Formats: sequence, structure tokens, C-alpha cells
Amino acid sequence: MDTGFSRKKAVMKTTKKRIRITDTTLRDAHQSLWATRMRTDDILKIAEEIDNAGYYSLECWGGATFDVCMRFLRENPWERLRQIKKVCRKTPLQMLFRGQNILGYKHYPDDIVERFAALACENGMDIFRIFDALNDPRNLETAIKAVKKYGGHAQGTISYTTSPVHTVEKYVELAKEQQSMGIDSLCIKDMAGILTPGAARELIGALVKAMPSMPIQVHSHMTSGMAAAMYMAAAEAGAGCVDCAISTMSSFSSQPPTESVVSILESEGFDTGLDQLRLAKINDYFKSVKAKRQPPSSSKVEAVDAGVLVHAIPGGMISNLRSQLAQQDALDRLPEVLEELPKTRADMGYPPLVTPTSQIVGVQSVLNVLSGKRFSMVTDETKHYAAGYYGRTPSPIAPKLRKQLCGGLKPITCRPADLLAPGLFAAADAIPAGLVQAEEDILSYALFPEVALGYFKWRAADPAKREPIPADVEEAKAKTAAAAAPEASTAASAKAADAPKIDGTPVLAPLNGTFYRSDAPGKPEMAAEGASVKVGDAVCVVEAMKLFNPIKAPAAGKIAFLVENGKSVTKGQVVAVIK
Ligand code: CO
Repeated sequence: MDTGFSRKKAVMKTTKKRIRITDTTLRDAHQSLWATRMRTDDILKIAEEIDNAGYYSLECWGGATFDVCMRFLRENPWERLRQIKKVCRKTPLQMLFRGQNILGYKHYPDDIVERFAALACENGMDIFRIFDALNDPRNLETAIKAVKKYGGHAQGTISYTTSPVHTVEKYVELAKEQQSMGIDSLCIKDMAGILTPGAARELIGALVKAMPSMPIQVHSHMTSGMAAAMYMAAAEAGAGCVDCAISTMSSFSSQPPTESVVSILESEGFDTGLDQLRLAKINDYFKSVKAKRQPPSSSKVEAVDAGVLVHAIPGGMISNLRSQLAQQDALDRLPEVLEELPKTRADMGYPPLVTPTSQIVGVQSVLNVLSGKRFSMVTDETKHYAAGYYGRTPSPIAPKLRKQLCGGLKPITCRPADLLAPGLFAAADAIPAGLVQAEEDILSYALFPEVALGYFKWRAADPAKREPIPADVEEAKAKTAAAAAPEASTAASAKAADAPKIDGTPVLAPLNGTFYRSDAPGKPEMAAEGASVKVGDAVCVVEAMKLFNPIKAPAAGKIAFLVENGKSVTKGQVVAVIK
């Protein structure tokens, strides 16, 4: 038996097998570790060095970066892309593109998907990793076509998960369907870090056999500690590229460390084309960025979360669950949520857990725990998911539960985007005059109306009078909190004590979050100020954990709101009165 350690074998390996590495440091790594808080300046200072390193591609856009840029960093995401492209001329830029969801959490009309792909290409994006959370091929088609039309590289994706309905045969079938749509390469996206070396060998072996000319890339997370070993098996099975992050930005819920993976692969006769000394220089730089950008909470995370092998929750999702529970002052209930989540997922038809299904299932699990009665509080998103508005679920939801989750919403069987009217002109029309500076802004608004508007207004304000950047406020708060940790909890409870006297039935915020009422853009179905409402009518919304939670009228009567649109509210706060 050849152990691979013999001198003879080492000498014989004169022709090295080539494997390439995609660097995820500028996107997935900081999304997984730092809640996506890396800034354009942080990137630009090292961009040239990274461009010269010899990576296959640089994943630097898409995923949560777009939203976070505008919401927390007050940056224009398009400008970030242009600036990176200006420096990185040698290495293709890569983005994560959520199929018909683009970068958001819902389906957008085809015209918006197409125009977004066109402008992304025009601004410098090269490779588009296009995935659908449910692996529903109908949700990938428009994006694949559009990317190809504008000269981009369309990478198809298998969102990898394990369940009784996810078999190798099923995955090969999905890949073939994407092949027939014209994808240029295929990614196995193991967002939860649950793909074992053995399963990777089996899956990639089957894919190589079924489509020998299709380049295969593998994306994983170190959450469970298996990814580096899995990459080795994937390379041997025929994958041509794997995703890594520079060591300082790697591991935990991020990608495997580039430097280690390079050494592992080279020891087995693979040539990555990357140089350790150059990688060390890049890594030194990120040590200094880490000191500034790493949120204090993430330094307490375990290096390896072996629990993932049980609960199969992706990297970014665990940090989201943690911060969602912290927002609800319920961080101590994380173990219960982790236990609830697989049950919620099974009940919801075994969706792979990736944006947006990870949010939908994650928040629903949080609500199932916090409300004390499973599915008694259902988000708008869960309702639409159950009715088919995100696509086909991998396995059907039990009819009785489906009916309950739909709550009167009529289920659909067509491609969800077939029901959407073109949205580009409507988006352009909805932006107040004077705030648009380029067509890209219209797309930003179409994807994230409230967030984009907040950013546009901030941008339009006199620089001397601008509100501070939210991420700066967060950082300052985190520092103060760390300095005064023992007092922190008393401040929150003091607020609840001085509740005002109310004449009528109070409407309470069920969660901490952002309050929206009928004058918010795109929420016309809610009650207007002074309107007569019936018991159970959705009267307003609290956006918490990125999802919209409708609040139902606890009594009949005329409604008077006490909170302005777009303001933050805390759980139990009186947001309106009905009398
Ligand atoms: Co990822």
C-alpha cells in the first residue's frame, strides 16, 4: 500500500496537479467573523498585494456586504466594487449572488435581476456564484442568463445540506439542470461546514463522472473543523478550486486558512501557485485590521464548534442567532434555539440553511422558543415561504402545518418571480427627488428600500451635520460596555419602569427592533393612523433580526400610533393605542 510518505513517491511527482484557491478574506471571512464590518479603506490598503498573490479569484462583493455597506458603514457598495477593480487588474473579482434574491431576502422581478447583473459586470465584477437557498433551478435561470448576456462567468451552485431527501443522485440531477442552463462552472457550497471528506469524495466523484468537462469549486466553513481535510479529499476527487481565507481571517465560522491548505495540498503533489512568504505579508496586514474591526463578542467564540455536526447551522447564522438573541435580551436561550432549529427545519421541508432560508428558519426557531408555543408567532417571511413564494421546498410541508403557516395566503406552484411585475421604473419613481446620483442607486433602492434611503439621505446631508456612522457608534458602544460591564444590565430594566398611563388597549412591540407603520415604503396593507381595525388585523410591523414581524390588533377600535415610522422600539414598548 502506498502511504504517500515514501521518498520514491515524492520524487516521482514531477508533474504537479494544479489546484487553484479563491480568497474569501474580503467577503465571506469578515461576514462570518466580524458581522461584515470590514471597510473599503481596510481593503484598498492591501488590495494590490492580494491581486499579486496568484489567487484564482477574489471574493469581495455580494452576500451581506452590500446591505452592511449602506446600513452600517455609510458606504456606497458600487463604489467599493469600482475601487477594488481599479487596483485588482490581474485577479478576477467574484461575488455571491442569491439567484432571484440577488443580494436581498426576497424574490425580485426579472428586470431588476437582469439590470443588477448588467451593472455589476459594468462596474467590474467577473465571476458570479449564483445560488438558490432551496436549490430550485427556476430561481437561478434569469440570473444565469443575465450574467452570461453581459459577459460574466456564471458559476452554478449546489447549496449543500444533509437530510433524508438530499442524496448524491439528487445533487447530480440539480447540477445537470444547471449545466443545461449554461453555467461555466459549478460550486459545491457547504455553508454549514458539514461536508465530510468521504461525502465530498463521493459527491465530486459522481459529478465528475456525470459532467467531466465541468470545472468544480468547493466552498466550505471551518465551523466544525472538517473543511481543510475535506478540501484535500475534494482535490483528489477532481475539484479544481477551493475557497480559503488568509489565516488571521480564517477558521472559526470562516473558511480554512489559506496558508495551511496550501501546505496540505502541496504535500500531496498539488501546485496552488501561491507563495507562503507573500501570504505571510498579507496576513500581517490583517492582524492590524483585526485589532480595529473584530467585534468584542466574536473573540469569545469557540475555535471549533463540534455541535455543528449535530445541528448543521452555518457559520454566519450562529453569529446572527447570537446577536438576534442579544437584541432580545435572551442570549441565555441560545442552547434552546439550537435544539429547536433542526425541528423547525424538518417541519419546514428540510431547506438548506443559507440566506434567506437561514434567516427565515433561524428567526422562526427564535420565535418558537421565545413565544413559548411553536409557530404561534409566524413572520411574514415564513408565511410566504410556506406558500411557495421562495420556490419549492426540498420536501413538502405537512398539509396541516402548511395551512397554519400560510395563514390565509394562497399557495402558489409557479416560479415565484413569474408573479412579479417589472420593478425598475417603480423603484426609480419611489426615490424622493434629488437623492439619486447614478443608475446604480436605483438598484440599491430596489434591493433595500429603507436602508438605501437612509444612506442616500445621509450622503446628501452637509458633511458637517451628518449623523455619525452607525458602525462607529457600535464600536464606541462596545468599548464603553466592555469598560462598564457590571452596570450594563440595570440600564435596560430602568427604561421599562416609567411606562406612560394609557387610555385604551395598548399595542405592544413583541420584540426589540425597528418599527414600521403604514407610511413606510412598500407596507400599504397596514392600518393608517386613525383607521378602524378589527381584532387580529396586522396594524404595524417590527423589523427584528432582518425579518418583518407583523403586529396584530389586540382589540377592535380606532388606532393611534405613538411611535414614528422607522424608529427603534424595545420589547414590551407601547407602539400604538386602540380605542
Ligand atoms: Co460561505
